[in-house]
Amino acid sequence: MKRIKAVYPGSFDPPTNGHLDLIERGSKIFDELVVAVLRNLEKAPLFSVADRRNMLESMTSGFDNVSVETFDGLTVEYAMTVGASAVLRGIRAISDYEYELQMALMNRKLQPSLETVFMMPAEKYSYISSRLVREVAQLGGNIDSLVPELVAQKLREKMDPAFKFAKAEPKPVKVRSGKRKS
Ligand code: PNS
Repeated sequence: MKRIKAVYPGSFDPPTNGHLDLIERGSKIFDELVVAVLRNLEKAPLFSVADRRNMLESMTSGFDNVSVETFDGLTVEYAMTVGASAVLRGIRAISDYEYELQMALMNRKLQPSLETVFMMPAEKYSYISSRLVREVAQLGGNIDSLVPELVAQKLREKMDPAFKFAKAEPKPVKVRSGKRKS
């Protein structure tokens, strides 16, 4: 029987609960799913590619058929290199559709044998995007239910200098000798 391998490409800056929901759904319908983090030199990301890969690896460690890789260049070329026959993308709302359709059709033009498969995350994640998560985190909002705990922790470390300070080695306290004022 033919095994179907799919690539789920994206920026994942940072990965969210919506991404995880889609990965779970994809892992159920594909034999193998490669989550592929784009190494995009043009964008200045919040998290390094290595950080994003590590977060995604931790998030997906429970799925036997999911792996995490990084790529640059065309998605279709990467997909062909790893022997995938499908590209998985999520559509949250109608507003995603135009961009996703354009990409899917361009990818089909570039590589007609590759199918794009759209899946919808659970409604409760339909408003979550990496961009909004970054913005909320940057402005000090609560991101706990938007991203997995390990991502929330990483965001807090990035955003809050006080958090870094709190985690830093405590400085030795100088004890003054002499009489104390009562
Ligand atoms: O998570 P994102 O940022 O919406 O993902 C966009 C991504 C990585 C899927 C898209 O930018 C992409 O495929 N980039 C690789 C370059 C490429 O293939 N460009 C042509 C796409 S039609």
